[in-house]
Amino acid sequence: MKAVLVSPPRPGVRIGDIPEPRLSDRGIYIRILWTGICGTDREIINGVLPIASTPPGKDEMILGHEAIGVVERASKGLEDLVGRYVILVNRRGCGRCLNCLAGRADYCETGGFVEAGIKGLDGFMAEYVVDDPRYIVEVPRELLDVAVLAQPLSDLEKSIESVLITQRRMIWSCEDGTYRCRKAIVIGTGPIGMLASMLLKSYGFRVTIVNRRDLYPHEKNMISRIGVKFYNSLNGYEELYKEIGPFDIVFDTTAKPSVIKSVLRFMNYNSILALFGFARAPERDYLDSEELTMIAAKNIALVGVVNGQKRHFETALEHIASWKSSMPGALESMITARIEIEDRDRVLKVLREKPPNEIKTLIVFSK
Ligand code: BGC
Ligand code: ZN
Ligand code: ZN
Repeated sequence: MKAVLVSPPRPGVRIGDIPEPRLSDRGIYIRILWTGICGTDREIINGVLPIASTPPGKDEMILGHEAIGVVERASKGLEDLVGRYVILVNRRGCGRCLNCLAGRADYCETGGFVEAGIKGLDGFMAEYVVDDPRYIVEVPRELLDVAVLAQPLSDLEKSIESVLITQRRMIWSCEDGTYRCRKAIVIGTGPIGMLASMLLKSYGFRVTIVNRRDLYPHEKNMISRIGVKFYNSLNGYEELYKEIGPFDIVFDTTAKPSVIKSVLRFMNYNSILALFGFARAPERDYLDSEELTMIAAKNIALVGVVNGQKRHFETALEHIASWKSSMPGALESMITARIEIEDRDRVLKVLREKPPNEIKTLIVFSK
C-alpha cells in the first residue's frame, strides 16, 4: 500500500510502497479516506520537532494523525463496526501513570505516551490502518466531509475545557450568567486559531482573532463565516485595548515570546493566558520583574495546553454538527485543498511547505 514515510529526527519525507497491515485478534481494519496535514507534520519533515521519533526498532514511521476512514473488516465480536465511518484518537497512554490508565493520556505524567505519526507509533497517512477499537470514534455519515477536523478540534476542546476549569478559581461569568462580557483574543489565523475562535464563540465569548498582517481572502471569508472580529497586531495591541478594553482570555498559537510580551500588559484582572502549540523557530526574550509582578498582582493564570482525548473527539463531533447550522459553510471553507495521493509531486510539495492559500489541506487516499 502507499504510505507517507518519515524518519525523525532526520528531516525528509517520501511516499513509499509498504506491506498492508495485518488484522489482529482484537483489531479493526480501516480503509483511510483522507488525512489532514498539520503544522506538526511539517515540523517533523523539517526535522525541528524534538519529541518526534520512529516506533521502537524501526527507522521509518508512517506520518499523519488526522484521519477519517471506513471499517472494512473487523475481528470476531466487532463485526457490527464494518461499514462505519471512524476517526482515530492519536495519542495513546504510557500504560503506567494514572491519567493514562484513566483515558487521559493528554495528562500523561511519565512522558511515555506515544502519538500516531509523531512519537513512537505509526500514523495514518496510508491506504490502510489496523487499530484497536478503543481508539476509534464513530462519525455520522452527515459529517463525513468535515469530520477529519475533529482531531485538531479535539486538542482545542481539551484546551478550552482546561481554561474554563482554571477560571473556576473565582466568579468569572457575567451578570447574566454567560460569558458574553468576556473578551477572548486568539492569536494566529491558522487552522488552530480558526477552530479556537469557533469554539470560544460557541461558549459565548466575545472573540477577536489576531495576526500581524492583513488577512488573505480565504481567511477573510472563513472569519466572516465564523462571525468574529479580526485585528491586525502589527503595531501592538493598544488600539484593540482602547476599543474593547482589557482581555480576559489570550489564546496563543504562536509560541513567540515577543508576542506574549506585547499582549501581556493589556490583560485583565483574573485573566488567563493559554499557550498552545510549539515554536517553529527559536526566539529568545524574557519577562522582566515588572511583568512578573503584574501577573501576580492581577491573578493572571498561565496554562499550557496540549492534546485532546477520546471524550474531546466526541464533543468535537457535537460542535461540528452544531456549527453546520450555526456557522454555515465555515468548516467547509476551512478545507482549502484536496490532493490525491497518486499526485505524488504535489503531495510531497505541500507536505514540505505550507502554501500561502492554505487553511487545511487534505490528502485523499480513497473515496
Ligand atoms: C496534535 C496533538 C498532539 C501534539 C503534540 C498536535 O499536532 O494535534 O494531538 O498532542 O501535536 O505532539
Ligand atoms: Zn496536529
Ligand atoms: Zn502516562
